[in-house]
Amino acid sequence: MSDLYNLHAGYLKFRNPVAVASMAGITDSAFFEQCKDAGLYILGGYSLDEPTMQASKAIAARGRKEFVSDDIFSLIESELKKVSGKGVAIGINVRATTAGPMIRAAELAKKYGALLEINAHCRQEEMAAIGVGEVMLKDRIRLARLVTELKSTGVVVSLKMRTGVVDDVALLRLLEKAGLDIVHVDAMGRGGANLKEHGNNSIEGYETAQAMYSAGSDMISMARAVMAGPKIVKSIVAYTEDQQQMTGWYNAPSHICRGGDLRGLTWCCPPIKDCPIHMALRRANLDPEKFAKIKLNFGKGTPLEVGTTTCFGSMVWCCKFNKHCYLREGSMEENNLDMKAYVALKKKLSEEIIKNIDKERVIT
Ligand SMILES: Cc1cc2nc3c(=O)[nH]c(=O)nc-3n(C[C@H](O)[C@H](O)[C@H](O)COP(=O)(O)O)c2cc1C
Repeated sequence: MSDLYNLHAGYLKFRNPVAVASMAGITDSAFFEQCKDAGLYILGGYSLDEPTMQASKAIAARGRKEFVSDDIFSLIESELKKVSGKGVAIGINVRATTAGPMIRAAELAKKYGALLEINAHCRQEEMAAIGVGEVMLKDRIRLARLVTELKSTGVVVSLKMRTGVVDDVALLRLLEKAGLDIVHVDAMGRGGANLKEHGNNSIEGYETAQAMYSAGSDMISMARAVMAGPKIVKSIVAYTEDQQQMTGWYNAPSHICRGGDLRGLTWCCPPIKDCPIHMALRRANLDPEKFAKIKLNFGKGTPLEVGTTTCFGSMVWCCKFNKHCYLREGSMEENNLDMKAYVALKKKLSEEIIKNIDKERVIT
């Protein structure tokens, strides 16, 4: 398998960053056949115990699709068998009122090299009434315990959630410590968090996919657009591959002054003008002088160091690749630096900046 993206989580390797998100009653092994270009396919959601299965039956009775079964674990295992080993990473999205069935599902997922996704996303009244789905976010200690218990099986764990329901940062900092591998965020127009991040909501074409990548998502997922036409998976995969081939940084951040996350400091000028960089540096708790030193020290001895034709004499202060600039391009030519090599260095510089930020002190 080619490793264009180097995307891993535990024993899972994703061949591309495009996921199909779970849709109860729809994302099964038959639907998978139309989504084989994806990097990740999430089966389910499955209701694992009596109370959640009763809730599923009630939901189905009012006309919404659900995976209803009297032997849910056999169903999950037979589905896992059908979709495993086809080059697509697999997940199972699950809900239960207690940890026991979740642990059993985790063991099953691990057996087939799949990930287990806790469904803390569902808002159906029948689920909320039994303390399952989005309401789980409100008890972060319990959720953290659940993550730890699931991790003890060795499974890769993802949490599916919406942003803005609770204090996301406090929740995710705790869950990261508990061992959570992936956060699958239904961002509903917002930016995201800090773990291996997986953004979702209303992705229906290149622009929306790119917006989600530029906001810092390592992966993106789609649900309704795939239901409307599964061919979208192939086209978003192809688009992402093009971006990665051309730039080497498919989820490069936007400029800070265009709303980019803190990784976007890599594109910034020296902090001398009255501009949004100061707000970003305050958020990051990074002193402007220290920031300048990080950039300049990083540049030393690299082809970014000298930029005789650029505004500030070094390409560490130059902007993003999608903004054409004859000044930067002049220096790139002088230094024999092609666009991919330029982006690779700027990516490393962004990692160096982030390494110097105390995550616990970032203002959110
Ligand atoms: C019919 C349908 C069923 C869904 N079932 C589930 C589910 O079982 N578990 C879950 O976590 N999310 C479920 N979702 C939410 C989707 O996975 C996704 O997060 C949401 O639709 C937003 O993404 P989209 O804008 O690409 O559709 C469902 C969505 C739809 C439309």
